[in-house]
Order: sequence, then C-alpha cells, then structure tokens
Amino acid sequence: MDINKKLVEEALKSRNNAYAPYSNFQVGAAVLTEDDEIYSGCNIENASYTPTVCAERVAIFKAVYDGHKKIKKVAIVGKLGDYTFPCGVCRQVIREFCTTDCEIIVIKNKEEYQTLKFTELFPHSFGPDSL
Ligand code: THU
Repeated sequence: MDINKKLVEEALKSRNNAYAPYSNFQVGAAVLTEDDEIYSGCNIENASYTPTVCAERVAIFKAVYDGHKKIKKVAIVGKLGDYTFPCGVCRQVIREFCTTDCEIIVIKNKEEYQTLKFTELFPHSFGPDSL
C-alpha cells in the first residue's frame, strides 16, 4: 500500500482512541520515522486543561522514546470533513525531530487528504541548529 495512504488509515484509527471529553474534538496522528516505522497518537485531555497533549506530540514522543529521532512524515486528522493543521506547539516539536524534507499530511477523510512541506507550514523556524 502507498505509504501516505497507510499513514492516513493509521491516523484515522488513532482518532478513535482520543480522550477529549472537554473539547469533544478528537484528533489522530501518525508519523513515519526516517527508518520507516509508524507511530500513532491521539489527543489526551485533562480536567485541568493545560496538561492536555495533542495527538501529534503523543505520536512523536512515542517514536523518540523508542529511539527514532528523525521523522519524515506527519499525518493529522481532526474534525472529519475539515483539514486540521498542527498547532503552534506541535509545529515546534515537529521542528525538533523533522528531516529537512519532512511532509505534513492533512486529512479530511480516508479518500481526501493533502500533502505539504513542513517548511511551508513553519518557515523561518527556530530549531536545534539555531543555538
Ligand atoms: N489538538 C491536537 O491534538 N492537535 C492539534 O494540532 C490541534 C489541537 C487537540 C488538543 C485538544 O485536545 C483539542 O484538539 C482541541 O484543541
């Protein structure tokens, strides 16, 4: 199967695991590591609101914990039928671990998704090489 399609399916599946009783906005994400492993995540909210973690960060931190520190694709699905783009905090976390040609896949549904370059989404960023 086409790898983008596979990431779309994984993100859609992960969305079902969202713990979002406060916003009722379920998000699923799937990332592809440089060595072709897939990690997925969902948003996990909290009664105290601020500790909430986005789906993208759950997926990325799982990958990093397992030793995969380079990510080449990030797929995201929020409200079905709309494109959901990563929030500012997630963009900064993606920036930390992305490859230079990293792609973002935003998903409306299983058939409708679009791919964009991460640098288009987050130009002139501050990252590990800025220090
Ligand atoms: N959310 C994500 O999981 N990813 C994003 O990039 C945008 C926002 C979650 C956080 C919160 O649980 C809910 O969506 C509403 O903001």
